[in-house]
Amino acid sequence: MDIHNKNFIITTSEKETLNLAEKIAKLIKPGDVISISGELGTGKTCFVKGLAKGLGISQIVTSPSFVILKIYHNKIPLYHFDVYRLDKPFQLEDIGFNQFQYADGVTVIEWGNKMKELLAFDHLQVKFDYYENKKRKIKFIPHGESWVKKIKNLNLINSI
Ligand SMILES: Nc1ncnc2c1ncn2[C@@H]1O[C@H](COP(=O)(O)OP(=O)(O)OP(=O)(O)O)[C@@H](O)[C@H]1O
Ligand SMILES: [Mg+2]
Repeated sequence: MDIHNKNFIITTSEKETLNLAEKIAKLIKPGDVISISGELGTGKTCFVKGLAKGLGISQIVTSPSFVILKIYHNKIPLYHFDVYRLDKPFQLEDIGFNQFQYADGVTVIEWGNKMKELLAFDHLQVKFDYYENKKRKIKFIPHGESWVKKIKNLNLINSI
């Protein structure tokens, strides 16, 4: 794994992405929101699997593409949205997105870039890009003071 700068990391396998997400999960507090973007197949769901593991969820996380939302009950519940099939923010609002993102679980939204205007001000934006072969470039963009602080924690990234 190469570290290009503190907010930017390259993983070389699915396992490394899982491990990275598991470490991010340790920073999560109830009410946190994480928006994940990136082309089809870049590893968004893989990242959510790692988050779930890090949160102590033993259920297998699968892509919610056809149902938009999957809820994983846990000490900190996980609300896993995938809005690939939605076009307009009101469609997500209509299914009660705000009730989830302002609740005490963690809200994770694949293709969150499509719903930017609905996202709480404080959130972590994670951007996936294909790199060479099996590599993925994963960029963390913190929004709000709390995520800025958490992402500044370089020990997290250096310890991977
Ligand atoms: N470095 C890597 N990190 C994550 N996944 C990787 C990596 N290298 C290869 N892969 C593979 O890429 C695929 C990622 O699939 P995943 O479902 O997580 O993508 P996704 O971004 O959620 O796709 P979709 O847009 O369809 O929701 C998996 O098959 C995984 O094994
Ligand atoms: Mg996915």
